[in-house]
Amino acid sequence: MGEELGLFEAIYNCRAMRRLKSDPVPEDVLIKLIDAANQAPTGSNAQGARWIVVRDQAQKEKLAALNKTAVAAYAAPASGRAAALAHQAADKRARMLAAVLWQAEHLHEVPALVIACYQFDRPVGGGMAQAAGGGSIWPAVQNLLLAARALGLGAAPTTLGLANRQAAREVLGLPDNVEAFCLIPVGYPLGKFGPVTRLPVAQTVRWDRWQ
Ligand SMILES: Cc1cc2nc3c(=O)[nH]c(=O)nc-3n(C[C@H](O)[C@H](O)[C@H](O)COP(=O)(O)O)c2cc1C
Repeated sequence: MGEELGLFEAIYNCRAMRRLKSDPVPEDVLIKLIDAANQAPTGSNAQGARWIVVRDQAQKEKLAALNKTAVAAYAAPASGRAAALAHQAADKRARMLAAVLWQAEHLHEVPALVIACYQFDRPVGGGMAQAAGGGSIWPAVQNLLLAARALGLGAAPTTLGLANRQAAREVLGLPDNVEAFCLIPVGYPLGKFGPVTRLPVAQTVRWDRWQ
């Protein structure tokens, strides 16, 4: 699969790809993903998106351990996680959980864990940072996911591994004006790419006002 994948084809086929091979991803390809991510807009054109590409085995193991703890809580019957949604039947939801559990077991084997961070011009507390920086980092994350898809790489946006914010900060060595928002495992896919399944547009759009 080459770069010629069209934008709309990438958008409609950019599923969360959790099962990944351990084969390394060339550094120039990782740089290309981040360069694509950096083309996204940021509030006031502040361009505070920063990326930590984790390839070191010991670092990957620490992040994988954090993710495993959070996934165990997410997967627990008492977590309140819905077994089915109006738009996602129980069997599909179970398959998603199986993929999340697979990822939790293998995260340390994924060749690159890309951490999407935002650098503020001053220290910002966790909640504030989420509100202030989220809008300026998530467009970049989506750019990265689409670029990965266009290049035939598997990736997925994840946050569970960063849920223990203090522990994640320490592992990543973040200064107090930098927040980590998303952990994106990147590698060559074990399975096949496929189309995303989303709500029909008629169910999500209203014209001119809500009611
Ligand atoms: C804000 C956000 C947080 C997410 N966190 C996780 C996560 O921690 N672990 C995970 O495996 N997937 C995570 N996902 C991926 C979603 O589960 C996935 O995008 C959704 O189920 C749709 O999957 P699909 O694109 O394959 O249809 C996250 C997605 C978003 C947008």
